[in-house]
Amino acid sequence: MATQMLKGKVVVVGAGAKNLGGLISRTFGADGASVVVHYNSNATKVSADETVKTVKASGGDAFAIQGDLTKVSDVVKLFDEAVKRYGRLDIAVNTVGKVLKKPFVETTEKEYDEMFAINAKAAYFFIKESGKRMNEGGKIITILTSLLAAFTGLYSTYAGAKAPVEHFTRAAAKEFGPRGISVTNVAPGPMDTPFFYPVESPDAIAYHKSQSMNGKLTDIKDIVPIVKFLATDGWWITGQTIFANGGYTTR
Ligand SMILES: NC(=O)c1ccc[n+]([C@@H]2O[C@H](COP(=O)([O-])OP(=O)(O)OC[C@H]3O[C@@H](n4cnc5c(N)ncnc54)[C@H](OP(=O)(O)O)[C@@H]3O)[C@@H](O)[C@H]2O)c1
Repeated sequence: MATQMLKGKVVVVGAGAKNLGGLISRTFGADGASVVVHYNSNATKVSADETVKTVKASGGDAFAIQGDLTKVSDVVKLFDEAVKRYGRLDIAVNTVGKVLKKPFVETTEKEYDEMFAINAKAAYFFIKESGKRMNEGGKIITILTSLLAAFTGLYSTYAGAKAPVEHFTRAAAKEFGPRGISVTNVAPGPMDTPFFYPVESPDAIAYHKSQSMNGKLTDIKDIVPIVKFLATDGWWITGQTIFANGGYTTR
């Protein structure tokens, strides 16, 4: 029987406007949480406003806030605003990410720096600033990638920059554990969102699909329940990365 509910909880969703983050915001909101819907680019504001509207219509509360989370000042502002508005912080889910599929020998310094800023630095300070403000029994969850369990080329900066977060998560889990806060990651397989397609060729898309048990890409609807479990009754899992990819990788 469920003992931990989302009702009345305050949740910050990093990149919580659209795609996976948007569905997490809407699902948590429909369960009665107050959701801080973070978004990055001006182009995403429409999705953020739409998500806020949906959450409010389904019984939760929400507001949208913009921020470039590669800037620590914007991460601080995000969590300060959450606490200012709702008076507490219970759950923080970070879905921020950027993919690059490129040979090692062609990757530039600028690309390397951007990939590590978005996938590693933003994740580090998201964990730090949420951990500083989180209530006893809180949960911090980061979205990584199943590529961390794949022996493949071409994603050196993407998977390479998500990889350190596994250790950030272990360290934070130890440091925040005495306050009952669990810190985890979810690593989805290639997901059917607009994030995936621009960097993949038709052959690669067909290959990615062929490696799952139903011949399809990972559906965001199959990831959200795992995030929800970790944010509620799955609290005893900490310091771990849960791989969810329909049999695509061995972890
Ligand atoms: N789709 C896949 O195949 C796949 C597979 C495994 C894991 N993932 C991971 O799953 C997560 C969600 O991906 P998704 O498929 O739902 O696509 P998505 O909506 O494009 O998610 C990426 C989000 O990161 C935000 N972002 C980028 N740069 C940022 C910055 N500097 N500061 C703050 N936010 C920033 C983007 O906002 P803007 O668009 O407004 O810039 C976007 O909302 C990502 O972490 C991704 O790495 C994706």
